[in-house]
Amino acid sequence: MRTHTCGELRAKNSGENVTLQGWIDAIRDHGKMVFISLRDRYGVTQVVLADAELIEKGKKLGGEYVVEVEGMVRERPSDMRNPSLETGKIEVVASRIKLISSSSVPPFVIKDPATAKDELRMKYRYLDLRRPSMQKNLIMRSKLINTVRAYLLKKNFLEIETPCLTRTTTEGARNFVVPSRNFKGKFYSLAQSPQIYKQLLMTAGVDRYFQFAKCFRDEDQRADRQPEHTQIDLEMSFVDEEEVMELVEGMIQTIFENILGLKVKVPFQRLTYRNAMEQYGTDKPDTRFDVYISDITKIAKKSEFRIFKEVKFVMALTVPLLTRKRIDEFSEFALKYYNSRISYLSFKETISGNIAKFFSSKLTGELKSALSIRGEETVLFCAGDWKRSLETLGAIRNKLLEGKTPREKYKLLWVTDFPLFEWDNKTGSWAPCHHIFTMPKTDDFKDPSKVAGKQYDLVLNGIELGSGSIRIHDRDLQERMMEIGGMNRAKRDREFGFFLSALAYGTPPHGGIAIGLDRLLMILAGKDSIQEVIPFPKTLTGAGLMEDVPSEIENEKLKELGIKITLTGK
Ligand code: AMO
Repeated sequence: MRTHTCGELRAKNSGENVTLQGWIDAIRDHGKMVFISLRDRYGVTQVVLADAELIEKGKKLGGEYVVEVEGMVRERPSDMRNPSLETGKIEVVASRIKLISSSSVPPFVIKDPATAKDELRMKYRYLDLRRPSMQKNLIMRSKLINTVRAYLLKKNFLEIETPCLTRTTTEGARNFVVPSRNFKGKFYSLAQSPQIYKQLLMTAGVDRYFQFAKCFRDEDQRADRQPEHTQIDLEMSFVDEEEVMELVEGMIQTIFENILGLKVKVPFQRLTYRNAMEQYGTDKPDTRFDVYISDITKIAKKSEFRIFKEVKFVMALTVPLLTRKRIDEFSEFALKYYNSRISYLSFKETISGNIAKFFSSKLTGELKSALSIRGEETVLFCAGDWKRSLETLGAIRNKLLEGKTPREKYKLLWVTDFPLFEWDNKTGSWAPCHHIFTMPKTDDFKDPSKVAGKQYDLVLNGIELGSGSIRIHDRDLQERMMEIGGMNRAKRDREFGFFLSALAYGTPPHGGIAIGLDRLLMILAGKDSIQEVIPFPKTLTGAGLMEDVPSEIENEKLKELGIKITLTGK
């Protein structure tokens, strides 16, 4: 129907008769001439209506109408060129214009940058997606998927789909459940990830698997979380950690090269979980900034501050001098989100701060040299439990770095040696930190808190991009780890019986990883939220504003499912 797209014509096409179709991006009536900017996915072309009859027709058109234009390409006079358009050197002088589809007045102007509120953009997502920047994100998404696919196929991977309707899985979030009509009173869970299936594919001899997997998790949403996200999910047989990490580094390198034209250096930096926590207060540190946390328990205990004497750990974050107002903000933040208290010392010509009086000048000198304080700096202290005090300061560090320009634009990092278990005060037992299938690095399980796993997390600019591990391929060991993680035999058999049986039929050593496709794309596209790179995302409360979901369902359907709804709670 069309001879060219709206992004295609150049000066070399001058004199050609062409047919274009697209949306009216803008229409300007200059009396004797009407100018139309015609838009499609590929770009914008200026169309001129100069003939009286066409001008009449043009006056009846409006923004977002879909039209067909036939006309002659001509070079624009040099002072009329538009350097911001790829087609800016030409225009099409129409000989015919046909209305294909009219449009109501859109609820917002379809232009970059977006001016409409997020809710409106979501409600009319199909209009929001017409904006060139959103089209760019969709194009990048497609390119990313195809780059990964080509890379993995070349490395002998098979692309295999696994079920979404499944049993409960163990990625740590709540499951979305789907009622069954044939088995009344029973439910499927939507897969939180293909974890068990990909491991079973290794038992099945597939050797190398990948999938762009839809994963469903009922958890509180954030800028980098959606109830439904996509993972680049892969698994390999007969490999160790190094082989998986090397494959992923090559994949990330190819992605950066293809999408951004950038060369990233391999191998990526590596930090153990312990080092990441102790230096940055998080297991996904943004290491582009030289702002560090230090364990100053020994020095702090020599002070007269009672709390420092009583607690197990005192951690310190050293930052450029902060105002009192900023310190108060951080204190409030620490209390609200971490239930932690912050104290501080500020080093100028004199030393001030709410705990200054508890530090002798000798001790202050010791502290200064331990923290390498030379200029005007503030030290924020958090005392208490190892993890909570580090996480509190880590979160303050992140807040402090918001909006600051980093040394380098992209920093990729592996975090390794994660603990497999942590003590759960609520249940009074050990609980797995991640999923329960990771191979431990030791066979001494006397103190579960000391058991590290063969796990590797990929971090990009302080965002957890992916997580993977070498898996347990031995049934006895798998059961033992489940037992430590608080899963008794009955629960193991009920939830994982099929999987445990499979392990007994000759499962090869294997390992893999899943990388958050939406998060990776968010960073590549330079966005702050994954909503920007997901075609039809949900809001932070998990609502689909366009389709109006979640929604009630008809009584008829409930009857079929054998379900009667009695709402309790809020
Ligand atoms: P994990 O649960 O760490 O591991 O998830 C892997 C990666 O998926 C992305 N991700 C999300 N992205 C958007 N919204 C969410 N709600 C969300 N949740 C996770 C993150 C994360 O790093 N089966 C294991 C992987 C494995 O061991 O192979 C798993 O799912 O980028």
